[in-house]
Amino acid sequence: MNVGIIGTGYVGLVTGAVLSEIGHVVTCLDINEEKINTLNKGQSPIYEPGLDEILARNIEANRLCFTTSTQEAFAQADIIFIAVGTPQGEDGAADLSYIEQAAKDIAINVNHNVIVVVKSTVPVGTNDRVEGIIHANMTAGLQIHVVSNPEFLREGHAINDTFYGDRIVIGAEDSIARDKVESLFKSLNIPIMHTNRRSAEMIKYASNAFLGVKISYINQISNLCEALGADVNAVADGMGMDHRIGRAFLNAGLGYGGSCFPKDTEALIYLASENGVNLSIVQSAIQANSEQRYIYVQKVINHFKGEVVGKKIAILGLAFKPNTDDMREAPSIMIIKELVARGAEISAYDPVVKKSPYLEGIKLTYAATKEECVSESDAILLVTEWSEFIEADWAKLMTYSNNAAVFDGRHILKF
Ligand code: UGA
Repeated sequence: MNVGIIGTGYVGLVTGAVLSEIGHVVTCLDINEEKINTLNKGQSPIYEPGLDEILARNIEANRLCFTTSTQEAFAQADIIFIAVGTPQGEDGAADLSYIEQAAKDIAINVNHNVIVVVKSTVPVGTNDRVEGIIHANMTAGLQIHVVSNPEFLREGHAINDTFYGDRIVIGAEDSIARDKVESLFKSLNIPIMHTNRRSAEMIKYASNAFLGVKISYINQISNLCEALGADVNAVADGMGMDHRIGRAFLNAGLGYGGSCFPKDTEALIYLASENGVNLSIVQSAIQANSEQRYIYVQKVINHFKGEVVGKKIAILGLAFKPNTDDMREAPSIMIIKELVARGAEISAYDPVVKKSPYLEGIKLTYAATKEECVSESDAILLVTEWSEFIEADWAKLMTYSNNAAVFDGRHILKF
């Protein structure tokens, strides 16, 4: 099939790459010319394991191309995906301006029957709104159906998750449009769930919020374990053996970050309050999530008896999680800011993030290696669980430090 994709962020780019890999002809559209030029050379603007190879292979095979031209992206398309960002607005609600613009662009530039698939994470009712915008602005007589198909990929595992996902959710009001979207994914052999558009939109938010709640739950349990001398990893293992609970997303740590859980939990709270519905469980999870980072910083401060001025603190890991260069809502940002504000001297190292605009103006040194990072340090903070840190020879690493105390923010080190 011929596919157009609006937006080359994580979701659009990975979707486009995978659809081309399974044989569809894909044109990805973005307004950022520099990004498009980089992509046409087969280079991904984001760090995502396996993505560069798929891009290069499918560009070479003429199944994948990138453009800034709306006409080019839509001309042959049987299906157009909307995969633009839905950033958090000031009140917590998702900002839908990019989605609305995409809907207008489709309506104005498409002259043939097409199916529009909304892949971006959008508040319940947005697919209806997109269809309304398209129908109000399109050439009369065309048939344009809108289908919801939320994305469940994780950064750092995006390719794998797209090929081997647990489910594909298709929310449609028209059965012909639904079947056509289903046939697009057929060869992936992933279970497909049919529902209406509003339920599909809700499945995405409810799933992300549930996982956020699960993480906040285990984080609070970990605080209690620490107070009582229990081992949270053993507790999570024991809980996880119960199939009704499951072990996934029971890794206690520094709270969830990234571009999805923080934004989507807030958006869901907004949706609930707009509709007069109590969603206090999610609200509590959000609060617990932000407290978790302060609890960690406080532990470091307590170790130094309340005074960190002039203390050399090594931060291992900046990205919000391993296998990504994404710094959005990364715990490292708050931890570094808080310690710098209290007079600590920070040295930071990440295997992929070499410098970050999220830390612009903050006094810190970026180390080139983990050894350089911990050199002469009084404390080592393991903030992101990169395998480079898990597999390190810690006895040797510690010899570079000033007899540092280690704060394992991810409960991952074995000593
Ligand atoms: C998440 C979801 O897992 C995806 O299914 C979804 O498609 C995506 O959001 C999205 O909405 O686009 P992602 O944010 O890439 O994916 O990352 P996760 O691997 O889910 O991790 C999210 C956060 O939770 C990270 O900060 C991670 O460190 C934290 N986490 C995860 C824990 O603290 N403990 C865990 O056990 C698992």
